[in-house]
Amino acid sequence: MKYLIISDIHGNYIALKEVLKEAEKYGWDEVLILGDIVGYYPYPNEVVKEVRKLLNGNKLYKDAIIRGNHDKVCSGIEEGYTFNNNAYRSAMWTKEFLRPKNRKFLYELPKGPKRINDLITICHGSPMDEDYYILYEQDAFASFYSVETQFCFFGHTHIPGLFELDTQSGNFSYFIPKDTSLFKLNMDEKYKYLINPGSVGQPRDYNPKAAFVIFDSDSGVLLFKRTKYNIDSVMRKVQKDNLPIFLAERLKSGV
Ligand SMILES: [Fe+2]
Repeated sequence: MKYLIISDIHGNYIALKEVLKEAEKYGWDEVLILGDIVGYYPYPNEVVKEVRKLLNGNKLYKDAIIRGNHDKVCSGIEEGYTFNNNAYRSAMWTKEFLRPKNRKFLYELPKGPKRINDLITICHGSPMDEDYYILYEQDAFASFYSVETQFCFFGHTHIPGLFELDTQSGNFSYFIPKDTSLFKLNMDEKYKYLINPGSVGQPRDYNPKAAFVIFDSDSGVLLFKRTKYNIDSVMRKVQKDNLPIFLAERLKSGV
């Protein structure tokens, strides 16, 4: 089975469309979506519509998606008091601008972690806590021991990366992917993997290109891929809709 794995779209429809176009070249069977569908960028209804379309073509359907912290605030589950000013302003804008059926869709998204099958778990932040950030080795180490499946895909940090643990020797590795990086993962169960595909809508690794992953669970081949999209048009729409200008500018530098 080939999985397309995407995370942190954040209402950036232009980036999402480009990711789907690029992913089509490699082919995939099922999509897995790791939360933060909306928040920050000005196309929340278009993104929710596209996500629903993707899920409708999926055998897993709603089992293939989980909510993120921005989805909770934008749909009214949480107030967003922990958000910084820019995140809060855009979340309130999104909440108001979302069509009721789209807000309901986000409100009803399942909480992670979610076990997809015997091989794969998905979560937004960490398998320990949907809002926890896996940034450093110690975060990953703790997370490895709270997930049962060999592979766990996570998002939330907007930074693509691959953690590998040999559970017998305790050897631990971290890999930072390039614009195109292919890894052949070891399917021996003694190895466990935590994989962050990066962010579609707001990368934060100083690379402005939209990020996604394709994972072949039969062969263990994992592709990290980045793709260019029309950032200027998103920036213009951010300005037009009076969203914080900082949100537009950070897209250019990928932070
Ligand atoms: Fe996010």
